[in-house]
Amino acid sequence: MVAACGRSDSGVSGGIPASIRYPDHVAAGGNQPPAVEVKNPIPSDSTVVADGGKIFSAMNCDGCHGGGATGWVGPSLVDGRWRYGGTDGALFQSIFYGRPRGMPAYGGILSPGAIWKIVSYIRAQPVPVTVPTESFK
Ligand code: HEC
Repeated sequence: MVAACGRSDSGVSGGIPASIRYPDHVAAGGNQPPAVEVKNPIPSDSTVVADGGKIFSAMNCDGCHGGGATGWVGPSLVDGRWRYGGTDGALFQSIFYGRPRGMPAYGGILSPGAIWKIVSYIRAQPVPVTVPTESFK
């Protein structure tokens, strides 16, 4: 079903996911809580990816995550390894709510649309041939 504004029915209301399923997490008892799997409502193309890259620099994400998000005091976001998951929904949640070990919450600062553009930017980056960290965990 396609809703207004060209958005697909991805369970996103007002651009903010109400609840997020982590496909890679195992819930207690093996049962996932009822939740939708959140997909980026903005179709990714080169303009969206470029916009996301500009926001990534403008918001100083690269001050912690390094130029090209390859890692600095914050972890690399392009090495294919994730602590909290690399799905659209997991990335949105990391950016919107922050993460406990030093990742600020941007939910009150960036609009959901701007966060989704950053998600497109991050997911469009190729995994480098060599990555500087052995393992993030
Ligand atoms: C003050 C430094 C700092 C800034 C600024 C910052 N981050 Fe982070 N970020 C971190 C740290 C440190 C972590 C690791 C948090 C943890 O492990 O709990 C992190 C984690 C993340 C993760 C989760 C990575 C994973 O492996 O699951 C994402 C996604 C992310 N940041 C994106 C961003 C984006 C996008 C911005 C800009 C809007 C940003 N960060 C700005 C420090 C920062």
